[in-house]
Amino acid sequence: MRVDIVSIFPEYFAPLDLSLIGRARANGTLRLAVHDLRIWTHDVHRTVDDTPYGGGPGMVMRPEPWGEALDALAPAEVTAPRLVVPAPTGAPFTQAMAHELAAEPHLLFACGRYEGIDQRVLDHAATRMPVTEVSLGDYVLFGGEVAVLVILEAVTRLLPGVLGNAGSLAEESHAHGLLEAPMYTKPATWRGLEVPEVLRSGDHGRIARWRRDEALTRTATRRPDMLAAMDPQRLDKRDVAA
Ligand code: ADE
Repeated sequence: MRVDIVSIFPEYFAPLDLSLIGRARANGTLRLAVHDLRIWTHDVHRTVDDTPYGGGPGMVMRPEPWGEALDALAPAEVTAPRLVVPAPTGAPFTQAMAHELAAEPHLLFACGRYEGIDQRVLDHAATRMPVTEVSLGDYVLFGGEVAVLVILEAVTRLLPGVLGNAGSLAEESHAHGLLEAPMYTKPATWRGLEVPEVLRSGDHGRIARWRRDEALTRTATRRPDMLAAMDPQRLDKRDVAA
């Protein structure tokens, strides 16, 4: 997958050299480039923002550098990338969206700052490429940089070959519309607390049932919205009894 990120703070992306994302970059699974928006400015102050039309506090990112950045990174003669713009006004980012983005050959992230990017940049881009505004949640960050780190981590771990054990993708929270059951490792007793007996029983049927029950209970307690949204077809008879 190819990924381009445009930001006025390229230094935010230094952690993308680390750990599994760093390895995905090193082995070519992820071809990632970070671009400083200011290279597409032409004044001595390298201005990227201005006051909002209509008044109000804060500053808005000017359209010209963004227009040039998108022209350079998504030239008309090649297949357009999907433009992803993190913003608190976007659609909620979910595991389903992570899967959708992981299937794209080329993502282009535009990191807004201040009160956001002049709307015409997105409107113009939408005439020649898919544009997705994405929100991490109902809170406001300083800008899109941290959101891109989050989105990219969620997406990269879904790329083929990135996770050593692909089975962990099938089992994890959100994979089945449920939160994952609690996990334990050795020792069996720690500070007087025991690992549940069932997990040490070797009875895979009982273990699977226990995990399913724990996942249901956790989801019902912590995320009743997820349980309410779940297709009843995905519940089995034992779930309903529980
Ligand atoms: N930029 C500022 N706030 C944001 C949020 N909640 N999600 C994604 N990008 C953002």
